[in-house]
Amino acid sequence: MKKGLLVIVAAILSCSVKADEGMWILPLLKQQKFAEMQALGLKLQDYDIYSPDSSALKDAVVIFGGGCTGEMVSPEGLLLTNHHCGYSQIQMHSTLEHDYLSNGFWAASREQELPNPGLKVTFIDKIEDVTDYVKGRLAKDEDPTGMNFLSPKYLNGLAKERIGEAFLQNNPGVDVEIKAFYGGNVYYMFTKKIYSDVRLVGAPPSSIGKFGADTDNWMWPRHTGDFSVFRVYADANGEPAEYSDKNVPLRPKRWLKISLKGVQENDFAMMMGFPGRTNKYYTSWEVEERRDIDNTVRINIRELRQEAMLEEMLNDPAIRIQYSSKYASSTNAYKNAIGSSWAINKHHLEEVKKAEQDRLIEWGKKNCQPDYEEALLSLEQLVYERKDLRFRGWMLDEALLRGIEFARVPTQIKPLCDALRSKNKSEQEKQLHLFELAYLKFYDKNYSPEVDRKIAKIMLSEYRRLVSPTSQPAWFAVIDKRFKGDVNKFVDHLFEKSIFGNERNFEKFKSSPSVKALEKDPMIQFAVAVQQEKTALTKALADFDAGYAQAHRKYVEGLLKMYGDKANFPDANFSLRLTYGQVKGYSPSDAVYYQCQTTLDGVMEKEDPDNWEFVVPDQLKKLYAEKNFGRYALPDGRMPVAFSASTHSTGGNSGSPVLNADGELIGINFDRNWEGVGGDIQYLPDYQRSIIVDVRYVLFIIDKYAGAGYLLDEMELSE
Ligand code: ARG
Ligand code: GLU
Repeated sequence: MKKGLLVIVAAILSCSVKADEGMWILPLLKQQKFAEMQALGLKLQDYDIYSPDSSALKDAVVIFGGGCTGEMVSPEGLLLTNHHCGYSQIQMHSTLEHDYLSNGFWAASREQELPNPGLKVTFIDKIEDVTDYVKGRLAKDEDPTGMNFLSPKYLNGLAKERIGEAFLQNNPGVDVEIKAFYGGNVYYMFTKKIYSDVRLVGAPPSSIGKFGADTDNWMWPRHTGDFSVFRVYADANGEPAEYSDKNVPLRPKRWLKISLKGVQENDFAMMMGFPGRTNKYYTSWEVEERRDIDNTVRINIRELRQEAMLEEMLNDPAIRIQYSSKYASSTNAYKNAIGSSWAINKHHLEEVKKAEQDRLIEWGKKNCQPDYEEALLSLEQLVYERKDLRFRGWMLDEALLRGIEFARVPTQIKPLCDALRSKNKSEQEKQLHLFELAYLKFYDKNYSPEVDRKIAKIMLSEYRRLVSPTSQPAWFAVIDKRFKGDVNKFVDHLFEKSIFGNERNFEKFKSSPSVKALEKDPMIQFAVAVQQEKTALTKALADFDAGYAQAHRKYVEGLLKMYGDKANFPDANFSLRLTYGQVKGYSPSDAVYYQCQTTLDGVMEKEDPDNWEFVVPDQLKKLYAEKNFGRYALPDGRMPVAFSASTHSTGGNSGSPVLNADGELIGINFDRNWEGVGGDIQYLPDYQRSIIVDVRYVLFIIDKYAGAGYLLDEMELSE
């Protein structure tokens, strides 16, 4: 290592005890971090935040849907989360006449609130350390694959046994889950209460809730009002119940007070929520693998796909609507991968991890514990040996499975073929109907065969250029044999001949369905070939999984032993965590400093009526011109929009409540700066910032913009 590099690495390592790092487990908070939090300004006691025996702030924090966080903000079940977390619900209720995505939605009364089948809100009632129980059971268990110690299915089976089926039967809506922490060195059990009557109460128009869209995504300074409002309903006893008009608003154990006092740079701030996944315990070889295989494939493939998609979207407004959500989700992970590789290089994360490994090896030598060095050798070996398979897997996923939509045409043709052979008319009709439903699910209102055709040609050419011929699905040989390797001709042929190639082809098939047409269909054959390759690769990679998981567990065990009493935290695993830090701006590059608070002035600066991402609604412009900000304005009269903080958050923290030193809500987390996403591997104190919508902007939009001030009447505002 060069001397300069040594200094940087040492600096980062010493920062690993810096106050702002960490996604802390609530039962350990008091012991691990509470003193530091108070030193930083927190005015609460530990039991105000988390208490195993009585209600505390943590009881106001919920899982919203499958991957977001939300918070309860009234005694009548009102919940706040992000606009992008409620997006699919808002989209589902939108029609041409009632376009809630474009115009926003506000229920004027409880009756007007909109139910959302399938949407769930999960409270965490209890958190218990069950490490001894799980390890005891694992010791007795025959584990043929060696993976039970991480298997959710196995662990949740243990959770059910521990609490007893009878308990679950007598308590509808209650569920239990055991999750592995520190690579399977520690286990916690969570008792959850899951509510399934959750109604949409309000959402701003996308021109506020998604202002800046993809251009501003992962960027600071930010000007998005990324919030939406829901209400949780329960039965008359406050227990979970399926949707019914007899249900009543839930009175939660806790709801958050909302602060109108605002934030200042360096103020204490903390966030509770459900961070999804981080890789803090990567070894140096995995950091390299992440950059050189995972991120690189993702970046290169998505660049090609997005360029082609955008061209079509800009040419045709109908396509823009069809593909805007696909484009957004593609660019979201793409920009994250760019930030990740940037951070790996800029902050030498490979070297940072290497230094930590070397320290452990030294420590192991001194303490006669050679297993840790052995575990590291296995990890190095495994990562080296899986290189090729991993590259093929990423190429398959990015270029073919995600890149080409027709790689996902329905391939379950057996029931229909059987029916057609059977001559049983009613069975044939039934199966044809089911098949048509599957076709319509694929060929939905957001599918354009012309866009798919154009992108498929690019994706397939790139796949064939980069993956060696012997490592491609064998069926791809037809491209060489019948089309002389001409990918464009091959793709055109699929669209011309397949029953899924266009609507005419499907109608023709429907009028005279045949087994032969199904079995010979080239798109089905293509999709099956890709799926088979996926299965084969997953299987081949699985050979490495058990060895990896065991060596990883050992490595983390070593680090825990080496660090002893020093506070540390496990990787994110979509369990409830707390992170704290300060309201803070940052310097992204030499001589540039980004302040921590944005205002409506910035919205107006970004306004561009000709670019859908930056349109400002007239009503907002009117409020701005009149400076009609009411009690939500800053002391200097400007209207706050968002702020940034040094809290250690990641995906899944969207919608998380951000609280001040008194535990009052000051904002809703919705994003991170792209310079900070490397924090999933190593927290970067000078670069990583959570991006948070200021709660005063949320209240201003509800009250002044939407005229839904009656919702504020049920909240507790603190001036
Ligand atoms: N980057 C944020 C997150 O990871 C927001 C994503 C939604 N917004 C978007 N423009 N795609 O979830
Ligand atoms: N937008 C992310 C989410 O949906 C949060 C951004 C991040 O920190 O990764 O959870």
